[in-house]
Amino acid sequence: MRFFVDTADVDAIRELNALGMADGVTTNPSLILKSGRDILEVTREICSIVSGPVSAEVVALQADEMIAEGRKLAKIADNIAVKVPLTWDGLKACKVLSDEGHMVNVTLCFSANQALLAAKAGATFISPFIGRLDDINLDGMELIADIRTIYDNYGFDTQILAASIRSVNHMSQAALIGADVATAPPGVIKAMANHPLTDKGLDGFLKDWAKTGQKIL
Ligand code: G3P
Repeated sequence: MRFFVDTADVDAIRELNALGMADGVTTNPSLILKSGRDILEVTREICSIVSGPVSAEVVALQADEMIAEGRKLAKIADNIAVKVPLTWDGLKACKVLSDEGHMVNVTLCFSANQALLAAKAGATFISPFIGRLDDINLDGMELIADIRTIYDNYGFDTQILAASIRSVNHMSQAALIGADVATAPPGVIKAMANHPLTDKGLDGFLKDWAKTGQKIL
């Protein structure tokens, strides 16, 4: 499973990219707001850090305007994936932009039927939002599994980009189901390294090591 970093924080992206943990980046209008930076400027900088896909989201509601915004965003760099919402107009924009050769990430997906439509419209990525389904007492992970089954049944090339990831459990479950990509905040990716038995084991080793009186360096 590839990891995309769900942030517009360039310092966090640089840190994860240096470790090979940033196969791409996803942004959205809320993350641009959080960065406090201009969308074109910060997206250009992100594209210069990572070589994989960088999702930049349109904000228009009508297909024609979405297409115009998408073309402008795609000019930022070769690794831009234009992000469009899963509305009827978003699907129209997806079809036009993907036919033009742009990567398209269809976002705000909350049902298997929506994911089926996005694949038919030529989406490069479909972004089902796990956490926001869990928030309303539905099962976000079940949606990932359903989309995996449907895409595999018919051989769709659209990649499942598990999004709205809030926990390390979401990461491991998405990987077990076979999501192609998971996009997660930097803190969730870093938290995957944590285990209390690792901390306890290390503590024991270091205490015993101190008793040896030895040094490696
Ligand atoms: O990738 C979409 C993601 O940013 C949404 O996450 O936590 O706002 O539901 P969240």
